[in-house]
Amino acid sequence: MERIQVGVEKNSYPIYIGEDLLSNFLGEIKDSSKFMLITDTNIERIYGSQIQEQMGHLDLYKYVVCAGEESKNIQTVIEIISEMMKYQFSRHDKIIAFGGGVIGDLAGFTASVYMRGISFIQIPTTLLSQVDSSVGGKTGVNMPQGKNMVGTFYQPEIVIIDTTVLKSLPLRELISGIGEVIKYGIMEDYLLFKYIEKNLDMVLGIDQQVITSIVKNCCEIKARIVAKDEKENNIRKNLNLGHTLAHALEAITEYKTYTHGEAVLIGIYHESKIAKQLGLIEEEYYQEIVQCIEKLGISVEISMYSSEYCLELMCKDKKNRNEKISFILPAGKGEVKEVFLTKEEISLLLLGNQQESFN
Ligand SMILES: NC(=O)c1ccc[n+]([C@@H]2O[C@H](COP(=O)([O-])OP(=O)(O)OC[C@H]3O[C@@H](n4cnc5c(N)ncnc54)[C@H](O)[C@@H]3O)[C@@H](O)[C@H]2O)c1
Ligand SMILES: [Zn+2]
Repeated sequence: MERIQVGVEKNSYPIYIGEDLLSNFLGEIKDSSKFMLITDTNIERIYGSQIQEQMGHLDLYKYVVCAGEESKNIQTVIEIISEMMKYQFSRHDKIIAFGGGVIGDLAGFTASVYMRGISFIQIPTTLLSQVDSSVGGKTGVNMPQGKNMVGTFYQPEIVIIDTTVLKSLPLRELISGIGEVIKYGIMEDYLLFKYIEKNLDMVLGIDQQVITSIVKNCCEIKARIVAKDEKENNIRKNLNLGHTLAHALEAITEYKTYTHGEAVLIGIYHESKIAKQLGLIEEEYYQEIVQCIEKLGISVEISMYSSEYCLELMCKDKKNRNEKISFILPAGKGEVKEVFLTKEEISLLLLGNQQESFN
């Protein structure tokens, strides 16, 4: 089992990574608190009885939400809180987030507001949540007006990453997680990028050694960044590589067409094209990036979306400055740079000569 320590301003917490941690770790927890385990219907179906068996010695309650982004809303938070009040959860009791990023964000947010904040444990079950969302303390729920519009920075007490659970993950969700892994590689660690490229088949086949090493590598990068900039005032922004376009694509398709990771892959693909045209990366490296993404077999075509609407959505990005849109772009191997572009510049750089096909 690997251990990484995340040091943030007010506290520090461990991330444990390894195989079969559900079986080998949870049974060892000795704690007299009440636990509210929050999970979704898919995970409950696959792991419900195993969890019950491993955690049966604890004072355990369970709240199962419908799988999917739709559950990540304030109404679900209210329902969970009502349930916790019914069972007289106190400030000393705990929440466990057992699931993907949806569950982590929802449960983390609930923990941060219940009685002004109670402890919570992250047990992420998707690749995306293991390498990204379970670490760093961003929690939140969606509003009809927009994604993650209500949220907090609230760190977990501990993160337990069992890479064995990825075996039951649908291929599409696995590829989605690879999107965030490639992001880390391009952003800070060229060797990680090459490692994924070279071992893609092993990753897709959930080779435990390869997956564990990748998850550890990504968590180390995220822990380092979060320790330097917990509230995203500077360097944490780099994690938004590929995300300016990704967020616009997710919104334009009403979060129905792409998973978050797929949108990030498409974002990285097209934003790398901008970086190449701005002279931030060489042709050869650009080809490495696009070929790696193409190998995943997702469609990177965006010409069917309205460029006007897409640009309008990008204008809402929190990182924008003086009416210019912020992009975190690849700038050399394992490096990124924040660049501000006008709508006109983006149209030209993204569309090149084919403007008429994207209107
Ligand atoms: N807080 C952050 O820093 C942060 C970062 C990135 C993304 N996010 C958020 O994360 C969410 C996306 O997370 P996600 O991609 O994990 O999606 P998700 O939580 O919806 O999980 C994807 C699907 O996989 C299923 N699933 C989960 N684990 C499984 C397993 N082991 N076996 C079989 N099926 C399993 C789920 O039931 C669901 O259907 C979004 O809401 C996004 O906003 C948050
Ligand atoms: Zn992301």
